[in-house]
Amino acid sequence: MAEIVTLTMNPALDIATGAEAVVPTDKIRCGPPRYDPGGGGINVARVITTLGGEALAVFPAGGASGQALEALLKRDRIPSCRVPVSGSTRESFTVDERRTGLQYRFVLPGPEIGEAEWKACLDRLAAQAQGARFVVASGSLPPGVPAGFFQSVADLSRDLGARFVLDTSGEPLRRMRSGVYLLKPSLRELREWTGQALARDAEQVAAARGMIERGLSEIVVISKGGEGALLVLADGAERLPAIEVPVRSAVGAGDSMVGAIVFGLVKGLSLRDAVRMGMAAGAATLMTPGTELCRREDVERLYEAARAMQGIPVSAPESSR
Ligand SMILES: Nc1ncnc2c1ncn2[C@@H]1O[C@H](COP(=O)(O)OP(=O)(O)OP(=O)(O)O)[C@@H](O)[C@H]1O
Ligand SMILES: [Mg+2]
Repeated sequence: MAEIVTLTMNPALDIATGAEAVVPTDKIRCGPPRYDPGGGGINVARVITTLGGEALAVFPAGGASGQALEALLKRDRIPSCRVPVSGSTRESFTVDERRTGLQYRFVLPGPEIGEAEWKACLDRLAAQAQGARFVVASGSLPPGVPAGFFQSVADLSRDLGARFVLDTSGEPLRRMRSGVYLLKPSLRELREWTGQALARDAEQVAAARGMIERGLSEIVVISKGGEGALLVLADGAERLPAIEVPVRSAVGAGDSMVGAIVFGLVKGLSLRDAVRMGMAAGAATLMTPGTELCRREDVERLYEAARAMQGIPVSAPESSR
């Protein structure tokens, strides 16, 4: 029985490579490709596995790319449960341009998922998450899946007695009403959710408080890239400073953060320390190229550095309460 079950409705076969220059018309000769299983919840499971934990990844997949995705999960020894679908799993292509150090990310839409198929995902999740402590859903929804889908996952998690952790954006996030234990919007996603600029920490905390007061989530962790993160609860908030690292590729920083937070919570860390471990994993992921996520020794070292940094209390403006 898995303590952590992740759900990825829009998985991808990630292909990463490098090229001298990305230019039009001419053939772009690329370096050797690296293949990784990708998509939000799958990345979360990869990070938990890297850190020495165990997470089962549930996802719909189909076609030759779906089979390749499943084989890559086997290669990486990530327990997985594929729900067969008729459409072909999407591929994502990341190219690091050597000349400039810029990164180009080509992301395809997922295949159309039919009603019977997404319902089968919920059924499979319900069966696999019996007795689980955490259900983690991360990423977008492919065409065909209703925008209110994650609310069904929240309701299901509640019925199973599991805590539901969610990292999504846009309409699927807007449609959430209740039942999330921990929500991890990036600042960009929080701005999108409110439609406001949220320039200052206090305004960002107030927006997250709004989510908590509506009963959407118990905890909100706002990730702010190189600016660190805000941990927001019903009765307090603090800013945790970023851990400085040399940046190679930001692919998967958010998923690494979510994976390490959940791993930390399962290991019995306090919420604050689990978020610090999440930030360490996010930062460690920046140090690796392309779609590679974090390395365990980096996470452990950066976590110690994060624990030495004090959080700063942030209060939201009175008017927003
Ligand atoms: N440049 C950076 N320096 C140090 N730490 C970083 C940096 N970028 C990201 N991190 C760490 O990783 C965490 C997650 O990164 P980020 O806020 O970019 O989330 P994200 O989900 O990848 O963003 P988005 O979904 O909007 O693309 C941050 O809170 C931070 O702890
Ligand atoms: Mg993100």
